[in-house]
Amino acid sequence: MKYFQFLKEKAKGYSLTELFRLEFESLFFGIFGLVPTTFGVILRGLICKVFFRSSKGFIWLQPNVVLVHSDRITVGSNFAVNSGSYINGIGGIEIGSYVLIGSNVTISSGQHPIEGRFPPVFARKTIPKKIVIGDDVWIGAGAVIMPGITIAKGTVIGANSIVTKDTQEYAVMVGAPARKIRSRSDI
Ligand SMILES: CC(C)(COP(=O)(O)OP(=O)(O)OC[C@H]1O[C@@H](n2cnc3c(N)ncnc32)[C@H](O)[C@@H]1OP(=O)(O)O)[C@@H](O)C(=O)NCCC(=O)NCCS
Repeated sequence: MKYFQFLKEKAKGYSLTELFRLEFESLFFGIFGLVPTTFGVILRGLICKVFFRSSKGFIWLQPNVVLVHSDRITVGSNFAVNSGSYINGIGGIEIGSYVLIGSNVTISSGQHPIEGRFPPVFARKTIPKKIVIGDDVWIGAGAVIMPGITIAKGTVIGANSIVTKDTQEYAVMVGAPARKIRSRSDI
């Protein structure tokens, strides 16, 4: 019974259509997210075309990528994501062209409010915080992009880095929190 109460609470603010869409998204990405081979990659690309808000070119998803609220995600042309990454578009995610995302990356565009002690954070509504990722961005394995962040065009995010601030164009960012170590050179 408590479980149903929790679900009822979570469903608040969503229309029935949105709830069905979320269920189908979970079903399609869950099942087809496991299909190996290039055929699986192509299948997932086509499913993204149906579920994403918009996309311009090919989408290359390795197995086991989790996408939530993908109707709030827009991508340009040429978008690739490696296995184990989690992308939640609750607050909106705008992704440019030629963007490469490594394995086990977390990009979640929502935040739980933490101030005050009641109700518990667990029971609070997520605050939407849009994430923007420019063209020609490479996000290394295991990185976390915090809600509300803009990753500028040409940025490289090092493996396991945590991006807590907007980046400058063509910056190379590493560490937790991520700091700029240099700009990409012109060669
Ligand atoms: C960010 C990156 C591209 C930088 O490469 P680079 O410019 O050749 O950097 P270097 O190896 O010369 O390292 C420069 C400094 O940054 C540090 N550094 C590099 N990557 C780091 C990282 N991910 N986290 C923390 N520090 C890092 C190095 O230790 C070095 O520090 P030092 O000057 O004190 O010795 C690379 O380190 C990286 O993380 N690539 C992602 C790899 C990956 O995730 N691959 C799979 C996904 S597709």
